[in-house]
Amino acid sequence: MKKVNFYNISKINRKYEKNFIKNFRIINKKGRYLLGDYVKNFEKKFSNYCQSKYCVAVGNCVDAIKLSFMAFKILGDLKNGDEVLVPANTYIASILGITLTNLKPVFVEPDSRTFNISTQNILKAINKKTKAILVVDLYGHPADLFEIKKIAKKKNLKLIEDAAQSCGAKINNKMIGSICDTTCFSFFPGKNLGAFGDAGAITTNNKKLYNILKSLRNYGEDVFDNLKDRKYKNTYKGVNSRMDEIQASILIDKLKDYSKHQKIRKNIANFYLKNIKNPKITMPHHNKNIEHAWHLFVIKCKLRNKLRKFLNKNNIQTMIHYPLPPHKQSAFKEFNKRSFKITEKIYKEILSLPIFPTLKKSEIMHVVKTINNF
Ligand SMILES: Cc1ncc(COP(=O)(O)O)c(C=O)c1O
Repeated sequence: MKKVNFYNISKINRKYEKNFIKNFRIINKKGRYLLGDYVKNFEKKFSNYCQSKYCVAVGNCVDAIKLSFMAFKILGDLKNGDEVLVPANTYIASILGITLTNLKPVFVEPDSRTFNISTQNILKAINKKTKAILVVDLYGHPADLFEIKKIAKKKNLKLIEDAAQSCGAKINNKMIGSICDTTCFSFFPGKNLGAFGDAGAITTNNKKLYNILKSLRNYGEDVFDNLKDRKYKNTYKGVNSRMDEIQASILIDKLKDYSKHQKIRKNIANFYLKNIKNPKITMPHHNKNIEHAWHLFVIKCKLRNKLRKFLNKNNIQTMIHYPLPPHKQSAFKEFNKRSFKITEKIYKEILSLPIFPTLKKSEIMHVVKTINNF
């Protein structure tokens, strides 16, 4: 068996090359490279897809999180030093979105089955300084958004969602991107909806937030449509986080195929769930009321390192998402002595299997067979 790659982005993207070149020529002819018609069009299409009123295209997801917090500060809902509850079990970018805006992350242990922030633990962690919750839909499984939304409403907390991994997922039949105060997406090339470089977006149903976010992504400058209307008038202290026309054109193209690709991921996940049968392996759990985005298919195994070596020997590439929790990273020395037992156990046992739209049936079968032989 030839090597089963963990992911093959260039194979997925090959289909879009021709249109990319065509669009590039149009963009170059127009001479507008940032925040032009393609970006506007993508924002419209993506907010429709997410069933959300508004979308603001930005440079990447960590900026989307940062800008959300900055907007809440402008509105007077948050101030420096306020506490934000966040899952201890997440990628470091979620935490950076909080610390880069001078807010304080308060780590909350996850539910050990879904790996997402536990609602019970949120209730235990809330105090007078808590002003917001940043939920993360890890691996593509939506967090318990409606329960958490109820808590946020009752306690007057802002609810921001890190949906970097859950584009296209649903909970109670509602699209991710339509539920929280703001939802932050990543279109990093390796994500399910991946651009040809960095890109991200924020969706919201709140018009005030929308207007502030649109300004913040462009240095806080007052929003203009045509370059001739630009006044160089800045109302807020913003950042440079603009989506470019080239990324927007690719995302528009890829969004057309997205539901089809999501269906393929779902079929692969269902095949794994049905056919991997090994008592040493715990398969990923998913709640009945959700539609998983299957960004990652993550199994658990007490002999994880041995299993990884065994799969590697059998030409199957795997990854670990993630090998070290944020509170144990050198970048966050201030949290290194803290202990989050559930999170630390998860990180030692998890292993991500290949799952992507161009994976061949023979490759999927080889993964299943090999794991069952472990
Ligand atoms: C959960 C999560 N949040 C945020 C990010 C950051 O996304 P970006 O690279 O677009 O800033 C990622 C990227 O891997 C992620 O997985």
